[in-house]
Amino acid sequence: MLYDTHCHLNHPQFEPDLNQVLARMREAGVGRCLVAGYDQPSSLIATELSSMNKDIYAAIGVHPHDADSFSEDVERSLLSLMENPKVVAVGEIGLDFHYNYSDPQKQSAVLEAQLHIAQITNKPVIFHCRDAYEPLLDILERTAPIHGVMHCWAGDKDQARRALDMGLYLGFGGMVTFKNASEICDIAAMVPVDSLLLETDAPYLAPTPHRGKRNEPAYIRMVAEKVAAIKGMELKEVIMRTWENGLTLFHGE
Ligand code: NI
Repeated sequence: MLYDTHCHLNHPQFEPDLNQVLARMREAGVGRCLVAGYDQPSSLIATELSSMNKDIYAAIGVHPHDADSFSEDVERSLLSLMENPKVVAVGEIGLDFHYNYSDPQKQSAVLEAQLHIAQITNKPVIFHCRDAYEPLLDILERTAPIHGVMHCWAGDKDQARRALDMGLYLGFGGMVTFKNASEICDIAAMVPVDSLLLETDAPYLAPTPHRGKRNEPAYIRMVAEKVAAIKGMELKEVIMRTWENGLTLFHGE
């Protein structure tokens, strides 16, 4: 079965037809999905969705875009959500110096506070990173050991090696199906299959031929097909190995 290790079914875009989206996900052979929070309200919704659906799990955290919304109250709320057994990770958290929607210093402070939550609860972390691979990897090397995934990998080869050396997983999604994605595809080819996770990041980054439209977990099969082609592996093998990787990282199995 396929595991969509990163999607946002907690996003308002899924409110009107979530039941149909879930039906298509199950029909496509997606056995599990992990819904990632990006602020306090979306973390709460992720947790609620996971409580209502056997095949949905939740990650909770404040995205670097929303770092300005982080407060002691939010931190307390995240810590209490972590007590729910369906909440299996902290995320998505990290640094985004591309848009700088939140002040970079505040982003770093909020990242450190949430790394602390992961450490005291002994949970893996889902990292978001854009135009900030060097500073993020520096922080993580100082904080190591840390378990987690660099979601939607878009760094270069040296940065990928640094992440792999720390034992981090690399997440690949719809971008591998895009034209002009040769660097990401080269890295997906290089990453050992044991360190690779599949994800959609729905509603964002829909794979070809749905590019530009709303993404959804059912489309993860197209990502798996492209990764299998890149790695010269059987589709079945990619699906099985990445499913096992998801269980190992997020469910301790
Ligand atoms: Ni995301």
